[in-house]
This record gives sequence, structure tokens and C-alpha cells, in this order.
Amino acid sequence: MAGGCCLSSRAIPAFWRRKSNYLASLMLCCYVLVFLVRQVNVNKLVTEEKHIQITADDQQEKIKPFKTILYWNSFFTLKDYAFGFGQEPFVNAKCATTSCVTTDDRSLFNISDVVIFSIQELNLSDLPAYRFPHQRFVFYEMESPSTTDPIPLLNNRTRFGFFNWTMTYRLDSDVVNRDAYGIVVPIKDNSLSSAYPKSRRNGSTSFVRNDSPVNISGKKKLAAWFVSNCVTTSRREDYVRELVKYMPVDIYGQCGNLTCEDQTRGREMVRDDYKFYIGFENALCTDYVTEKLMVGFFYDAVPVVKGAVNYAEFAPPHSFIDVNDFASPKQLADYLLLLNETDSLYARYFDWRRDFTVELYQKRGWCHLCQMAHDHQLPSKTYDDILTWWVDDPKNCDLPK
Ligand SMILES: *[C@@H]1O[C@H](CO)[C@@H](O)[C@H](O)[C@H]1NC(C)=O
Ligand SMILES: *[C@@H]1O[C@H](CO)[C@@H](O)[C@H](O)[C@H]1NC(C)=O
Ligand SMILES: *[C@@H]1O[C@H](CO)[C@@H](O)[C@H](O)[C@H]1NC(C)=O
Ligand SMILES: *[C@@H]1O[C@H](CO)[C@@H](O)[C@H](O)[C@H]1NC(C)=O
Ligand SMILES: *[C@@H]1O[C@H](CO)[C@@H](O)[C@H](O)[C@H]1NC(C)=O
Ligand SMILES: *[C@@H]1O[C@H](CO)[C@@H](O)[C@H](O)[C@H]1NC(C)=O
Ligand SMILES: *[C@@H]1O[C@H](CO)[C@@H](O)[C@H](O)[C@H]1NC(C)=O
Ligand SMILES: *[C@@H]1O[C@H](CO)[C@@H](O)[C@H](O)[C@H]1NC(C)=O
Repeated sequence: MAGGCCLSSRAIPAFWRRKSNYLASLMLCCYVLVFLVRQVNVNKLVTEEKHIQITADDQQEKIKPFKTILYWNSFFTLKDYAFGFGQEPFVNAKCATTSCVTTDDRSLFNISDVVIFSIQELNLSDLPAYRFPHQRFVFYEMESPSTTDPIPLLNNRTRFGFFNWTMTYRLDSDVVNRDAYGIVVPIKDNSLSSAYPKSRRNGSTSFVRNDSPVNISGKKKLAAWFVSNCVTTSRREDYVRELVKYMPVDIYGQCGNLTCEDQTRGREMVRDDYKFYIGFENALCTDYVTEKLMVGFFYDAVPVVKGAVNYAEFAPPHSFIDVNDFASPKQLADYLLLLNETDSLYARYFDWRRDFTVELYQKRGWCHLCQMAHDHQLPSKTYDDILTWWVDDPKNCDLPK
């Protein structure tokens, strides 16, 4: 993590703590603290309600044996995958099924029901020597295919018939795990929620509610972009280079001229000063929508987004501006400048807050994993060729022309 201005807390989602630069470390500096502060509040909430949950679960656990989930390796140096060890994380997350324990103790391999492999730092000389038929080996990845370490995907042993389940941000994973990116949740049920598997829509304690009115008149600047990865497969940098010919974009971080003084100032700056937050993904891949969408929501700036997804599946109507809806950077600039001049049009981009809230869960994927580990109805499953599933399928990553 760059600059030492960030926290080194384990509570920070691991992929945000990554040393490599494609997740803007500067943005981290500016935003992680607030995310954390909110998370802590959420945890407090959960703790207060814990005793109720435990009473209910006690019944369950008398009949259900515990399932053991083994973290085979670490996830960006985190031995507990930023989730935790033991049963407690499942209880804290108020999972419907809490009778699972996580461990990194390999002596428990034989009794492990699920074994998780973080692809990003998998050591091919250090794989299990044997496996049992009831065990599920899990392909765990939070990066996009374009930044996944290719070695395990090309190695025959791990490529062919090794993994039983996938746990990634992709919606067609066995376990969808994207909560650390933040998710938008309808206050009332509506079509958006269908983007998430039913089992993941539970729980309403970890709310981050954003219902204070946005001070539009205070915002004097147009657009901010926080970025440290200057060359990406999505070529977002080319788009911005064109965009700045027609409108000002304040670029913070390694790829621009500006730096934020400190994290407090950085996070308030977007809220106070900027109308738009540039949230271009570094890769154009199926379902790859990261916190770049949510940061705008959290800090009262309209996200201007670019990714290979239908954003309407991930965000409320009229809450964002998708670059793909414009024929050219100039047309986008014209529209943003129009909104800048017309408060009534701009303000409509905050109407969604009446009907939606933004949650920063990190646990619902894990709840689902525990539930699946207990589900004896689930058929046996093996990915014959994980490379095809993750990378080769042409619909997965849409490289720019
Ligand atoms: C979600 O809630 C329903 C009804 O309360 C429950 O049956 C189901 O098991 C829950 N699922 C998860 C994953 O929490
Ligand atoms: C685990 O299983 C293997 C293979 O069946 C066996 O050789 C080994 O002794 C077992 N280890 C433990 C700790 O039970
Ligand atoms: C990979 O595992 C082997 C066998 O355990 C070990 O000798 C080697 O040091 C490991 N490599 C890395 C980079 O950790
Ligand atoms: C890997 O698998 C491919 C396809 O089955 C095969 O042609 C190749 O020889 C294998 N490579 C090794 C090193 O086993
Ligand atoms: C909105 O921002 C302006 C300019 O910074 C400030 O003068 C005004 O007091 C703010 N209004 C509210 C309601 O915070
Ligand atoms: C940095 O600032 C200089 C002078 O203000 C300007 O000419 C240049 O284009 C800026 N570069 C970027 C990447 O914004
Ligand atoms: C955006 O609107 C404000 C207020 O109307 C104006 O002062 C500013 O010059 C506009 N910015 C641009 C880049 O046009
Ligand atoms: C997991 O995959 C292995 C390897 O293909 C297979 O032998 C095993 O039956 C699978 N287990 C389950 C529970 O699906």
C-alpha cells in the first residue's frame, strides 16, 4: 500500500490492500478509512443482536454437524482471507447457516469439507498430495481474468478436473462473492434484486444509508478520477485522454497531477467539491463491477462508469452515467457540462436514494458457502477445464478494439 497514508488493518478487504497498482492505492488512501468506520459501526450492530441469533442457531447446531472449510493458502498474504477463523465470522455475519468453521491448519485437511485455493498466490509445488471424494476444492479469485495469475490456469493438474466450485465476483460462480465491492439493495423489492441469487438477498443489518440531502450548490468542480494504474487492458486511459479535450477532469494519483492531502480531506473532497466521480474499471469483463461504482454513491458524486456490464443490473435506475451510452467522449463531455449547468437535471441523479440503499457486506458469499457445504442435495461437480471457464470463453473479457 502506497505512501503509508493508509491503514494496514486486516479488516480492509484484501484485494484493496494489494501492493500491485491496478487498484488505485491513492483511492484507497482517500476512502478506505470511511469504509472501515462504517464497517465497524455495522459490526457493532451485528454484535448487539448476536444473542438472538445464537439462540436460534443452537437448535440448528444440535442436528447439524460442523463443516470444516480449509484455507489452503493465503489470499494476498491474508491467512484468513479477510473473513476470519473459526465459527465466529459466520455468527457475526448473521448467516442463516453458521455451523461452519474456517481454518488454515492443514492437519485438518482430511476432515475438511471445503478447501479454498486463492489462485492469485497458488504455489504449484504445494498442492494437496491426495483428496477425498466428498471434498470440494474451490477456485477463489477476486481479480478479473485479465489480471489473474495465469500459471495455475495453465498447469495441467490445476487446470483440468481439479476444482469443484468457483467463488468469484462473477454471477455464474457457484458462490458469488462480490460483497466487498459494495452492493446496492432495494429498500422495497424490485427488479434490480434479481441480479443477485436469492440466497444472497437476506439480512438487513449491514445497511449504509445515505439519506442526507446532497449539497449540490457546494459542488464547484466537475469530475475527479483517482487512479494509479495508468495502463490497463480496458484502455480507460485513452478514453480519459480524449475526454479532457472537452471538459476538465481532475486526475489524482500516479497518472495525474494531483494528490489528496490526507484521507480525511480526500474523502470529503469528492462529497464537497465534485459533481462526478470517474469509476472506469481496469478490465472489461463479465460482471466485473467493483467498488468504483459504489464510491460515487458513498460520496455524493454521480459515478461515470465504464465496464463490460449492464450497469442497470448492479445499480439503481438513473443513478450513474454509462460511457457506453455515448457515441464519443465529446458527447459525454457535452452531457456532463449540461448537467453541470442545470442543477435540476443533475439532482435527478440522486432520486434513487428514496428507494435504494448501499450495503458494504463482505460476508454474504461466505454465508452461502457454508450453506452449500451443508447441502447434501448438491450434485457432485467438477470443472473440466477451469481455464476455459475463467479466461478462454470469449464472452468473459471483452478486450477493446
Ligand atoms: C434467507 O432467508 C430465508 C427466509 O428467512 C431462509 O429460508 C434462507 O435460508 C435464508 N438464506 C440465507 C443464505 O441466509
Ligand atoms: C489423512 O489421510 C491420508 C490418506 O488417507 C492418510 O495417509 C493420513 O494418515 C491421514 N492423516 C490424518 C492426520 O489423519
Ligand atoms: C512452494 O512450495 C514449495 C514446497 O512446499 C516450497 O519449497 C517453495 O518455497 C514454495 N515457493 C514459494 C514461492 O513459496
Ligand atoms: C497437459 O495436457 C495436455 C492436454 O491434455 C497434454 O497435451 C499435455 O501433454 C499435458 N502436459 C503435461 C506436461 O502433462
Ligand atoms: C452547501 O455548500 C455551500 C458551499 O460550500 C455552503 O455555503 C452551504 O452552507 C451548504 N449547505 C448545506 C445545507 O450544507
Ligand atoms: C499536468 O499539469 C500540466 C500543467 O498544469 C499540464 O500541462 C499537463 O497536461 C497535466 N498533466 C496531466 C496528466 O494532467
Ligand atoms: C460548472 O458549473 C459551475 C456553476 O454553474 C460553473 O461555475 C463552472 O464554470 C462549470 N464548469 C465547467 C467546466 O463548465
Ligand atoms: C470434486 O472433484 C473431484 C475431481 O474431479 C471429484 O473426484 C470429486 O468427486 C468431486 N467432489 C464433489 C463433491 O463434487
